[in-house]
Parts: sequence; C-alpha cells; structure tokens
Amino acid sequence: MSGAATDDARFMAAAIRLCRRHLGLTATNPSVACLIVKHGVVLAAAVTARGGRPHAETQALAEAGEAARGATAYVTLEPCSHHGKTPPCADALIAAGIARVVVSVTDPDERVAGRGLSMLRDAGIVVETGVLEAEGCAALAAYLTRQTKKRPYVTLKLAVSADGMLGRLGAGQVAITGPVSRGQVHGLRAETDAILIGIGTALADDPELTCRLPGLEARSPVRIVLDPRLELSPASKLARTAKDVPVIVVTTKGTEIPPSGLPADDARAGALEAAGVEILTCDPRRLDDLLMALATRGTSSLLVEGGARTAQSFIEAGLVDRILLFAGTGTIGKDGVASPCVSGRMPDGFSLRNTARLGADSLHEYERDD
Ligand SMILES: NC(=O)c1ccc[n+]([C@@H]2O[C@H](COP(=O)([O-])OP(=O)(O)OC[C@H]3O[C@@H](n4cnc5c(N)ncnc54)[C@H](OP(=O)(O)O)[C@@H]3O)[C@@H](O)[C@H]2O)c1
Repeated sequence: MSGAATDDARFMAAAIRLCRRHLGLTATNPSVACLIVKHGVVLAAAVTARGGRPHAETQALAEAGEAARGATAYVTLEPCSHHGKTPPCADALIAAGIARVVVSVTDPDERVAGRGLSMLRDAGIVVETGVLEAEGCAALAAYLTRQTKKRPYVTLKLAVSADGMLGRLGAGQVAITGPVSRGQVHGLRAETDAILIGIGTALADDPELTCRLPGLEARSPVRIVLDPRLELSPASKLARTAKDVPVIVVTTKGTEIPPSGLPADDARAGALEAAGVEILTCDPRRLDDLLMALATRGTSSLLVEGGARTAQSFIEAGLVDRILLFAGTGTIGKDGVASPCVSGRMPDGFSLRNTARLGADSLHEYERDD
C-alpha cells in the first residue's frame, strides 16, 4: 500500500469509529462521520447529530472554517446530493473549497446513488471511493439494509446454557450468563433502534428491556412485543415504564380468541393505552409485513431478544442478519426451554465471524453469508 493509501485507510478507520458513536440516535438518517484533514492533521471531526441533523459534513466544515480550503474530507457515506430538510452536503464541500473527498460507501438511496460523487467530480474535486468499504458497510449495516431491503437490520441475541437451553419452563428469568455479557447486551441496546420479544417472554420474565449502563440510560430503544391475543398486563414492567421508553404491542386485536379470565379486547387495549403503550394492529406472525411497517416508521435496526418460538420464526422467515450467541457455562437440565440454535449447530447460510471471552462466558457472532 502506498503512503497516501495507508493515510486514507488510517483516517477512514478513525471516521468509521466515530460514526459508530451515534448508531441508534439519528432517526431515519444514517450515522455518518466526516474528518477534515490537511497536511496529515485532523482539522475537524463530526458525526451526524442526534435526531439526524445537522449532517456530519456541515458540522465538520463549520468547525474547520477557512482552513478547509484545499483540505481532504473523509466521509463514511457518499455526501448527499438532494435538497431535503438541509441543502446538499456535496454543495457544502464544494463551497468550502475542499480539494479531495475520500468516501467509504456509496449511498444506495435513489436520491443520491452516485450523484453526490458526480457533483463533486464535476466541480473539479478529486474523489476516491471504496476505502475500507467492508468496515464502512458493517458500520452502516442498519441504514443500508433499510434502504435496500426495506426492512430493519435484524440481530438475534440469545443467551444459551452449556446444555443448549434459553431458560426453564415456569421459572421466569434464569441467569444464564454473567455480568460482563449482560453489560454487552445493554451496550447493544444503546446502539439499536428497537428491541423485540414474544409475549411468552414478556409473561414469563416480566423484563424491562432498557439500557441500564450508567450514563447511557437515555439510549434505551423502543420496545416491541409480539402479542396476538393482547395478553400483556398493564401492571408489567414494560407497560409501567411505557411513558418513559416507548412500548409497541403488535396484535391481531379482535380476531384472536381472548384468553379466559381476561377482559374483552377493547378494555385490555384501553388499559394498555392509558399506560402509554401503543397498540399496532398488524398480524405478528407475518414478520415480513411487520418489519416493512417498522422500516416505514424509520426503524433501521432491530434486536430480537427471544424467546425460543420468536427466534425460531425469525430464522425460518429468513429475516435474521446476525446471530449473537452468549454462551454461559452453567446447565439448565430438566424443564429447559431449548434454544433454536447453539454454537456449532447454526441455521444454514450463517458463518462464524468472531468469538470473544466475556468473563466466564463466550460470545459467538454469526453473520448471514449473502
Ligand atoms: N436466554 C435467552 O436469551 C432468552 C431470551 C428471551 C426469553 N427466554 C426464555 O424463553 C422462554 C419463552 O420462550 P417462548 O418460546 O415460550 O416465548 P416467546 O417466543 O417469547 O413468545 C411466544 C409467544 O409469542 C407469540 N407470537 C406472536 N407472533 C409470533 C411470531 N411471529 N413467532 C413466534 N411467536 C409469536 C406466540 O403466539 P402463539 O402462541 O399463537 O404461537 C406465543 O404466544 C422463557 O423461558 C424465557 O425465559 C430466554
């Protein structure tokens, strides 16, 4: 690799690290980073602001000021070329007198798709693309999946015991992994737009599904429950915290036979809504329709946290992009709820990408091959 190419890779790696900081915080916009570099010195660095605006390029250019003239801009995603709520970033780079733009990933958004690069080239700017493209695509996976597949990027997370179980029937939450793994899961929640579970887990475990890492509490994602018969209790932790962190219950309200002992549909829906829960009427068993609806609402990343049947449905529907298996050392034994996948016995089409030790546990990360 030449010296210039090494420098490009080094600055782009820094930009990719920076763009990861606002994953899950930029609404429908991707979290992009921009570095302005001159004579090997970083003059300015910025990431898409919370809520999605201002974009990284305009912030970095403002920080660099006049010094941006003649500099190189490193951008993780092709600068936008269309007039949305803000003017095109390509115009801002041209107006600032940037001499060279280095891009990791070309934007598949049909309003951009190469036009941002053409605008820059037409203005006489030297443009390089595809620098650390695989790493850039990994950081932008949620945005790219929503753009190209019209659904969120789906991560399936499962904590599996040494005997391949997710929990024990009727025992509620069973500790399968230790504190280091749990910290990692909370970190994952912080960078994800939404978490999803089945009603079986909501009833058995009464989970809160928030991010409880000190300092990151405000980064809890939207929580979604697949609940065909509207069984979620208004007294559950999810419902009780719905006014602070949104909860969506996906139900076929009115078409399922209500479980005996529960009041009629409308009364249950009313009680949940009064607690702040949103009722989304959509068949929770038609996962592609549901994911398309979530993508339309701006959800780019979804963390599926079980239970067993929900995980199985996502796998069978071919809607999982990544599987994170947190493997504990203890066993569950009798009355165990079997995991649909365990290390070494994964669904077809997934390959192991990473393994890490997390205290006494291990984490195995599998990705879809296509
Ligand atoms: N270790 C872990 O990582 C982990 C994580 C979460 C949960 N768990 C454990 O897993 C157990 C619960 O698992 P589970 O399989 O009983 O419950 P689940 O998958 O959480 O929920 C299943 C329920 O969701 C409904 N549902 C609606 N749409 C669905 C869809 N598209 N696919 C699948 N189900 C859908 C099902 O309806 P129908 O009845 O009509 O099919 C069923 O009532 C608990 O023991 C819990 O502790 C472990």
